[in-house]
Amino acid sequence: MAERNNPALGILSRKSLFSLFTVTSIVFLLSWFFVLQSAGGRPRFIDHSLLPTSKLLATLDASNRDSRNEDDVNASVGNRSILMDGEEEPGEAPRAKTDVKCSLPDNNKVALKVYMYDLPPEFHFGLLDWKAKGNGVWPDIRTKIPDYPGGLNLQHSIEYWLTLDLLSSEFADMLGGRGAVRVRNSSEADVIYVPFFSSLSYNRYSKVNPHQKKSKNKLLQEKLVSYLTAQPEWKRSGGRDHVIVAHHPNSMLDARMMLWPAMFILADFGRYPPNIANVDKDVIAPYKHVIRNYVDDTSGFDSRPTLLYFQGAIYRKDGGYVRQELFYLLKNEKDVHFSFGSVRKDGVRKATQGMRSSKFCLNIAGDTPSSNRLFDAIASHCVPVIISDEIELPYEDVLDYSQFCIFVRTSDAIKENFLMNYIRSIGKDEWTRMWRRLKEVEDFYEFRYPSKDGDAVQMIWQAVARKVPSIRMKLHKSRRFAHALGHADSRSISFQLPHNFW
Ligand SMILES: *[C@@H]1O[C@H](CO)[C@@H](O)[C@H](O)[C@H]1NC(C)=O
Ligand SMILES: *[C@@H]1O[C@H](CO)[C@@H](O)[C@H](O)[C@H]1NC(C)=O
Ligand SMILES: *[C@@H]1O[C@H](CO)[C@@H](O)[C@H](O)[C@H]1NC(C)=O
Repeated sequence: MAERNNPALGILSRKSLFSLFTVTSIVFLLSWFFVLQSAGGRPRFIDHSLLPTSKLLATLDASNRDSRNEDDVNASVGNRSILMDGEEEPGEAPRAKTDVKCSLPDNNKVALKVYMYDLPPEFHFGLLDWKAKGNGVWPDIRTKIPDYPGGLNLQHSIEYWLTLDLLSSEFADMLGGRGAVRVRNSSEADVIYVPFFSSLSYNRYSKVNPHQKKSKNKLLQEKLVSYLTAQPEWKRSGGRDHVIVAHHPNSMLDARMMLWPAMFILADFGRYPPNIANVDKDVIAPYKHVIRNYVDDTSGFDSRPTLLYFQGAIYRKDGGYVRQELFYLLKNEKDVHFSFGSVRKDGVRKATQGMRSSKFCLNIAGDTPSSNRLFDAIASHCVPVIISDEIELPYEDVLDYSQFCIFVRTSDAIKENFLMNYIRSIGKDEWTRMWRRLKEVEDFYEFRYPSKDGDAVQMIWQAVARKVPSIRMKLHKSRRFAHALGHADSRSISFQLPHNFW
């Protein structure tokens, strides 16, 4: 969407935040080493309840240790060796590089500790028509897992998979390769998770019934805001260490204006003012693709007859005008498929067939910068061509999308012949390299239960974990003057956030 950047302000504050963060981190690390060496023990000024030293030390250890044994590396990094590393030749067994180990939380050692509110079922599984027995709030997932409705609802089902994963983290036999574990004591948690199925609430309960004043979706959001802001956990941090899933671009439309200090898990920032949500504080999660994975894909450059494929609504409001422009530019190209209509019913079957028989798949900004189509293309191993200047991509801090996607600026794409010349200039070798990469990364976009190491659920937890140090720094800074304000217990003040702080 258009007006996302508040020109100077956003850039300035991001830059200064970043350099502040870098400088502070370096100073902190230096002093840490100094203290360790001179005192030979742990300094007393570090608040152990807040700072999981094990996590910090694990990161430092990993970067200092130059020889870890092979098993260790394979087990902890696995296919993620593609992350942050584009050097190996396709086909070669991926090798873990030092920088990969440093930049990724070593989840075999330390998982993110997550405290989950025991919200009443009406906020989560109750929305799936699950009925609690007695005073229980959660389903017993060892016996039966409440089903999520199929169809297009599933695109935004991220909340469901993350919640199931936390519930299952309590059973020891499901612990392998896990990015997050549920803890029952919020003082021990790295983050506080809010289990509201906001996208489902939007999809199912946005209508106002004749005898109601407000939709159930609105009421639930109001209730959530009163509940959260009354919790000691919220007051302790002003909400900053809270994780709230709002994947559907229209979910949490009301509550987000109140809950914005929290970390949101979103599809994109298209409908958010930059001070409410932004890439520094929030996490972008993939859509759950609706097209099935292309298992045993033995296709190749020559066996995919269509050069470029697009299916979607052609005429869209807002940023979608480019679809229309492209349609007129491409409609006479022989090996281009450009079709109208959304991916429903028969549409899914046709789109599956279409994407699997195409070399490249167009992903054009619609009424939001992101769309499910990108993840459908990845699952179909159809090299995505992304024309969406404002798009933010999942895990991009550790994943280099240029290895398996083509990016074209909107202003270039609508120039006569530009797009087709570009696409045609990509030869068989280059395409095949990207196609192989797609097969390597596709698991990062799989939502499943039980979750497996390296799938979307684990990747999202790891993305959340990477935000924890900066949350902690903001919290500590906010407490600097707590005593001067006359609060005896600085840990429980509810401080004011400056407007436009993030
Ligand atoms: C670890 O991976 C390397 C290749 O990256 C392989 O040669 C080695 O056998 C693997 N070790 C184990 C224990 O799987
Ligand atoms: C929760 O953890 C904190 C810090 O580790 C500890 O002081 C407190 O006693 C714990 N509370 C309970 C109920 O175990
Ligand atoms: C790693 O990726 C390869 C494809 O490059 C795939 O065959 C293999 O199953 C993946 N391994 C895991 C553990 O996901």
